Amino acid sequence: MSVIVGIETSCDETGIAVVQDGVRVLANVVSSQIDTHRVFGGVVPEIASRMHTEIISHLMEQALTEAGLYPLNGGAPVDAVAATFGPGLMGSLLVGLSFGRALACAWNIPFLPIHHIEGHLFSAFLGEKAPSFPYLALVVSGGHTQIIQCDAPHRYQILATTRDDAVGECFDKVARLLGLPYPGGPSIQKAAETGDDRAFDFPRGLAGKDTLDFSYSGLKTAVLYMLRDKPGASVPDVAASFQRAAVDALMQKTALAIKQSGVHRLVIAGGVAANKRLRESAAQLDAALFLPPFVYCLDNGAMIAAAAHSRLRHGCSLPPDAPAAASLPLVALSS
Ligand code: KG4
Ligand code: ZN
Repeated sequence: MSVIVGIETSCDETGIAVVQDGVRVLANVVSSQIDTHRVFGGVVPEIASRMHTEIISHLMEQALTEAGLYPLNGGAPVDAVAATFGPGLMGSLLVGLSFGRALACAWNIPFLPIHHIEGHLFSAFLGEKAPSFPYLALVVSGGHTQIIQCDAPHRYQILATTRDDAVGECFDKVARLLGLPYPGGPSIQKAAETGDDRAFDFPRGLAGKDTLDFSYSGLKTAVLYMLRDKPGASVPDVAASFQRAAVDALMQKTALAIKQSGVHRLVIAGGVAANKRLRESAAQLDAALFLPPFVYCLDNGAMIAAAAHSRLRHGCSLPPDAPAAASLPLVALSS
């Protein structure tokens, strides 16, 4: 049995979780800074790192208490500590990484640096069933839009990536154009509920092109021009039509990746995996679906602990002193 503390501070959520054997979440606490950043329309890096610093030790105490491991009884309460070391906001990453390393050092237990996207992949292992290898993963977040083929534990091939904006970033930018609050994904999903998704025909990036890659900047620009030409357009209609185009583009390329690779198991992970329309549309794909429970779609510490458990188990932990990295290709860590 192994119990791991996972720490996630790459952006604007401070997440700490205690996970047993990579699947059983004993505690999962997340403190979101969204209300603070909302007035600026996006994340302010300096504020983000300060807020992580202020709350992190309190959250650790809370997570250990919920897991029944606090107050401490003298020894280490867990077997290892893991924290995200990239990609993300440098100041924010450094808070979680230094805090995690210091704890592991004080408790004299292993410390594991974890890649944020690998964490998202492992959120799917916190669901009811886990995929066997090989599987495809559609990773959709504020910073990433990728299709990854996972051939074996921690062995990754990137089949597709975005050539410009990430899909979550596009949701956030379009929400801003529509005057909807940050973060854009949940706001657009909510506004779209009462809209007509066929009111406007927005482009699907790189549709019909002989590539698996994505492109989201054209979709954002199309919404911008449409609003300039029709300033009175109904916000729910624009939100619904935009959401349909954004999700269709993901589905078209994912369907092609399934066909080309012959791999019929699909994980969808990252913040945008919380999107209802995406989850419903993905059910039509020719693949067995592995979706993380809603609570593990957004950034959290449980996914980091789950990834760390697997790296420990397969003997491929990364060097504990790996430096924080704002940008960090996942394939560089592929075993
Ligand atoms: O994975 P995540 O929490 O942070 C990053 O690693 O980026 O993802 C955040 C992104 C934001 O762009 C947010 O707008 C988007 O996920 N998001 C959604 C939904 N919930 C969050 N996008 C579409 N629909 C949602 N329900
Ligand atoms: Zn994320």
